[in-house]
Amino acid sequence: MSIFKITGGRKLKGQVAISGRKNAALPILAASLLTTGTVTIENLPQIGDVEVMLEILQALGAKIERDGELVKIQSKDLTTTNIPVECAQKLRGSILFIGPLVARAGSITLPHPGGCIIGKRPVGLHLDVMEELGARIKNGATGYSVLAPRGLKGTQIFLTEASVTGTENAVMAAVLAKGETELVNIANEDHVTQVIQVLKQLGYDINGTGKSVLRITGSNGRLSSKNITVKLIPDEIEIGTFITCAIVTKSNLTLTNVGSHLINLPIRAIFKSFGVNVLYNEKKETITVKPPFKLKPAHIKTGTWPGVPTDLQPPLALLGTQTAGNTVIHDWMFEGRFAYVASLEKMGAAILTCDPHRIVITGRTSLHGTKLVSPDLRAGVTQLIAALAAEGESIIEHAELIDRGYANIVERLQALGARIERIA
Ligand code: EPU
Repeated sequence: MSIFKITGGRKLKGQVAISGRKNAALPILAASLLTTGTVTIENLPQIGDVEVMLEILQALGAKIERDGELVKIQSKDLTTTNIPVECAQKLRGSILFIGPLVARAGSITLPHPGGCIIGKRPVGLHLDVMEELGARIKNGATGYSVLAPRGLKGTQIFLTEASVTGTENAVMAAVLAKGETELVNIANEDHVTQVIQVLKQLGYDINGTGKSVLRITGSNGRLSSKNITVKLIPDEIEIGTFITCAIVTKSNLTLTNVGSHLINLPIRAIFKSFGVNVLYNEKKETITVKPPFKLKPAHIKTGTWPGVPTDLQPPLALLGTQTAGNTVIHDWMFEGRFAYVASLEKMGAAILTCDPHRIVITGRTSLHGTKLVSPDLRAGVTQLIAALAAEGESIIEHAELIDRGYANIVERLQALGARIERIA
């Protein structure tokens, strides 16, 4: 278990570089199985979830060369299609191996995937897609086997939910299928787009029609042999987290490596709804946030892109605690995404839980440090920035959950002047 000790109430100052996007890294690591060539990934975030994906690739027989934020993966010879149980249990992202592995090697054995406990998060959609592409599913007590020894067959698929990883799995499977697949109601998040770009770089035939529809002409089992290099897009949740951190600690922060206008426009709109103008410099790809902040209460409803990302709603609730009036948060996606509420209340926040999907925060309340236990990645980072804003000392147990998605978070915050240390 990792433990962070934080002494809050200090202003931060300086520059922080945004990491590559976790939710682009995980599917692109899985997509590296779709070539016998080498996939070079730049700007790879050094986070727990990436480590587990690399462990799985290695267990499958891939050769990995690593140098900080750069990794080269070569998976010419696969030795097994079994995902190690201890890896699957750590990470829901392990589900992303279903598409590429079944398409390439004809099978996968996947123990029940673990990951953040934020809701039911069914795997049904992933298995349904594989079944529609002609695979056979075997459900066991400990997990699933998906089998397609004679390859997959293109078809028309309507995704019952515009699922992020569901879309990614479906495309990664369909590129090697026989014939055309039409995929309707795809997720449109920027990380999904980057996965599609990677598959195109590998030579696969994918066309979008601009109506949430993709048309994929399968290669009939012909595996790419291309070598490609991909630089991961910046992590938009990290951008939103650091902006929130600047606001609640009343700090002047500059975020570098924030990427394009299109990535940042939806994020800036979220903070504008709280009355905060975030300064974006397109040429330098930086964001500057500086006080004074005149916060106004917002009505936040999470959505698929370009809506408010569910992964950012916990930090936004913290912002609500520092805003005079009632901020309403409605997260329809996950019924377990409010695990941070009890912690913020313990620190002094006033929050009304209406039902598993809606809360009302009445601000402004001053926060005080206390002992906390991180329940999941995004709740954990919310506790962390709340502790930076709070008066006094906080202890956060199970901080390894924060390390799953935020690279070198202690060192990066220390560089901004935060009093934070890892005490275990
Ligand atoms: N859902 C719908 N309708 C939709 C879209 C989603 O009902 O149109 C429901 C799903 O049933 C599911 C939930 O909303 O229960 C989440 O949807 P999705 O299947 O898109 O989630 P995911 O693919 O399992 C990815 C991210 C999550 C992120 C969600 C939503 C990865 C590896 N994980 O999960 O990331 O919360 O999309 O954007 O990409 C995180 O980073 O902390 C994290 C949990």
